[in-house]
Amino acid sequence: MKVTFITGNQHKVKEARGIFQHFDIRLEHLNLGYPEIQGELTDVACYGAKYAAKKLGMPVIVEDAGLFIRALEGFPGTYSSYVQSTLGNEGILKLMKNVHDRYAEFRSVVGFATPKTEPEIFLGVVGGHITHQQKGKHGFAYDPLFKPELYDLTFGELTIEKKNELSHRRQSLEKFANWFKDIVENID
Ligand code: IMP
Repeated sequence: MKVTFITGNQHKVKEARGIFQHFDIRLEHLNLGYPEIQGELTDVACYGAKYAAKKLGMPVIVEDAGLFIRALEGFPGTYSSYVQSTLGNEGILKLMKNVHDRYAEFRSVVGFATPKTEPEIFLGVVGGHITHQQKGKHGFAYDPLFKPELYDLTFGELTIEKKNELSHRRQSLEKFANWFKDIVENID
C-alpha cells in the first residue's frame, strides 16, 4: 500500500515514515505546496488535502499541527509556524515566565482526500508541559520545550522512535492508517 504525503517539512516525512512502517504502508513524499488558509487545523488540513488531490489527480494526505498552551489561551495554536519563526522557543519561554500553569497540547490533524471525494479527517492530541528551559537536540521546532505527560524528558530529548510511540502525529497517522487499511482491504 502506498500513501502520498504532501508536506515541505522533512521532519514530518521522517516521522510519518517511521509510523507507517508499523502498518505496512509505503510513504511517498511530495513537496507540492498548498495555500494555508487561516482557520482551525481541521480547516487547513481539509482545504490542503482537497486542493492537492485535485491538482495531482490522485489521493493524498496533508497534515496540520500546532502547539496549544492553556495559560496563553491556546497560543501559538494555529499560528505555531509563524510564531516559531519569529518569537522562537526563547520567546515562548519569556511569555511563560512566572506562569504556574504550564499545561500544553500538541495537536495534529491529518486530512485525506481523493480528486472525487470530500476530505476525511483524523485527529491526534498529546498533553504535556512546557519546560522552563530548552532541552534536547532531537526533533524540531517546539520539541525541546515540550515534556509529554508521564515523561521526564522533552520531545527534544527523545529519539524519533520514542517520540513516534506517543506523539500527536502518531495518533492522527495511526487513526488514518487503520481506516485506510480497512478501505483498501474491502476493495480487494
Ligand atoms: P504545520 O503548519 O503543520 O507545518 O505546523 C505548524 C508548526 O507547529 C510547525 O512549523 C512547528 O513549528 C510546530 N510543530 C508542529 N508539529 C510539531 C512537532 O511535532 N514538534 C515541534 N513543533 C511542531
